[in-house]
Amino acid sequence: MQKKYSSLISELREKLKDCNTTHDLVNIKSEYLGKNGYITNEFSKLRNAQESEKKKLGKELNILKSQAHDIILNTNIINNKTKERFVDVTLPGKNVCVGSRHPISITINEITKILESHGFTPVTGVEVENEYYNFEALNIPESHPARDMHDTFYVLEGKLLRTHTSSVQIHTMLNKSAPLKIMTPGKVYRCDSDPTHSPMFHQIEGLYIDKGINFCHLKGTLIAFIDEYFGKKMEIRFRPSYFPFTEPSAEIDIKFKGKWLEVLGCGMVHHNVLKNVNINPKQFSGFAFGLGIERLAMLKYGITDLRMFFENDISFLSQFERAE
Ligand code: PHE
Repeated sequence: MQKKYSSLISELREKLKDCNTTHDLVNIKSEYLGKNGYITNEFSKLRNAQESEKKKLGKELNILKSQAHDIILNTNIINNKTKERFVDVTLPGKNVCVGSRHPISITINEITKILESHGFTPVTGVEVENEYYNFEALNIPESHPARDMHDTFYVLEGKLLRTHTSSVQIHTMLNKSAPLKIMTPGKVYRCDSDPTHSPMFHQIEGLYIDKGINFCHLKGTLIAFIDEYFGKKMEIRFRPSYFPFTEPSAEIDIKFKGKWLEVLGCGMVHHNVLKNVNINPKQFSGFAFGLGIERLAMLKYGITDLRMFFENDISFLSQFERAE
């Protein structure tokens, strides 16, 4: 074969080494074998060749053409790519960060698990609530001073971000008939912000309505719950308190590092609330309690600033990886 032809072939081979896409391959093919391609042009020279040379030259050109064709056809683009994507296995690996559950989620899971074992079923509700379900139905009429305890975010006329999960009690009691035993984990909102208060926080409410439920059932359930949550017998006290939707009402304090700390509010469901949801207070009675998740998490994990839960600082959050 003429020297010129063999260098055409080696040139073609060189070019194909850098060919990574079918698009490139088609272009190279037409560069050599297309209408104006190098090899096609060589064929047009046949016309001017001497008669004695023509046969030999024609044969050589045909060989060149089919050789080029085979080379192009057998080019493995995938192999070329793989070559470029060579992986150096001796390089250090990239760190893959494994996420961890948020301490608030861990606490909600723990609390709901305990309450589930006492027969409470989880129920959720809306966060943008009608004033009626957040206040009136819970025996907090308009202009009642108790509304001051809830620095409320109003969103529209008559609509607000719920200030407590007690509103879910009302929806559930209206939709389902007594007896009922529910818990309502969820977010609540109050216009409050300091190291122990944030505008959004989490509560769980418990509600048990049945025939013959009295304060002893409330005490038994909550004492057991607190001991189970803290994993030991806690020193606790029931302190008389006031909530418009319970009567009598109490708050539970626990002894923590020598001080009494309030952990939850509770009481016997007020007969006005039962009447508002069409439950006959002469037939049924019940107790309710509401607790702040952040507060319980802070006590268990020794956190002093509640805002840390919401700053999303990885070094803070990753400490809880194995807390569950
Ligand atoms: N809803 C009350 C609060 O947010 C808590 C509570 C619930 C108290 C149920 C008594 C009974 O402070």
